[in-house]
Amino acid sequence: MADAAAPHIVVFDSGLGGLSVLKAIRAARPDLRITYLADTAGFPYGNLSEPRVVRRVGMLMERTIAQVSPDLVVIACNTASTLVLPSLRAAYPIPFVGTVPAVKPAAETTRSGLFSVLATPGTVKRDYTQALIHTFAFHLDVTLVGAAKLAALAEAHLRGERVDDAAILHEIRPAFKDRKGRRTDTIVLACTHYPLIADRLAAVAPWEVTWIDPAPAIARRVTTFLPPARSGGIGGGRAVFTAATEREDALREILAPFGVSEIVVEPLVREAV
Ligand code: DGL
Repeated sequence: MADAAAPHIVVFDSGLGGLSVLKAIRAARPDLRITYLADTAGFPYGNLSEPRVVRRVGMLMERTIAQVSPDLVVIACNTASTLVLPSLRAAYPIPFVGTVPAVKPAAETTRSGLFSVLATPGTVKRDYTQALIHTFAFHLDVTLVGAAKLAALAEAHLRGERVDDAAILHEIRPAFKDRKGRRTDTIVLACTHYPLIADRLAAVAPWEVTWIDPAPAIARRVTTFLPPARSGGIGGGRAVFTAATEREDALREILAPFGVSEIVVEPLVREAV
């Protein structure tokens, strides 16, 4: 039975990518009550200007925190986390757990000295990402790849649409470098959408690499902020989207295994964003 006193958390992304993080959190803490919030009207964030991302996330957080009074918020989106975490932490008295490129783990994993960060065009441009590389990987050969379409391809795959191998390979090929026999051996999945198609990525990869998915580490971080589970119950799940989708039945099927049974559409006020 669900525990009505179990902590309530919000997991936020621009689209369905945050489900890769939600899955790891559910595995660690099945009892949590979860609101999955997706700014589907703003997707993809990777192509939006920085001020627009900041404005949209700010408005959504204000509305959602007032509505559900969460105990914690996970910004399960690298494109947003690399911009908005300091202002959110300053504005609200609850913990915000972010998702930022796993540069440090990659620097510790690579044997060849060549690793790549596969992310949205927005994330690769961020000062935050540059600072991570400067701090943890200054001595290594790091390739930053801004994949313009990969998040949308991951969503299409999840919705059961046909996505060609060639389209996926086109997005990830620049992450594979061969410098006189030394090859990229590690790739950071620095967009939460990408682990959702991990099998497809591995299948089309020009050679085998270690893919770094930060979701389990994020789930561990979340649990450190919350009181231990009191029951073995399963917490409820609800999704809030900012735009309706034409294929709501398909969406219900996608969300059900993540324990999300209710879907609500609440648009953002257009003039303001
Ligand atoms: N899932 C998001 C991330 O982790 C971004 C996808 C997008 O909206 O471009 O960066």
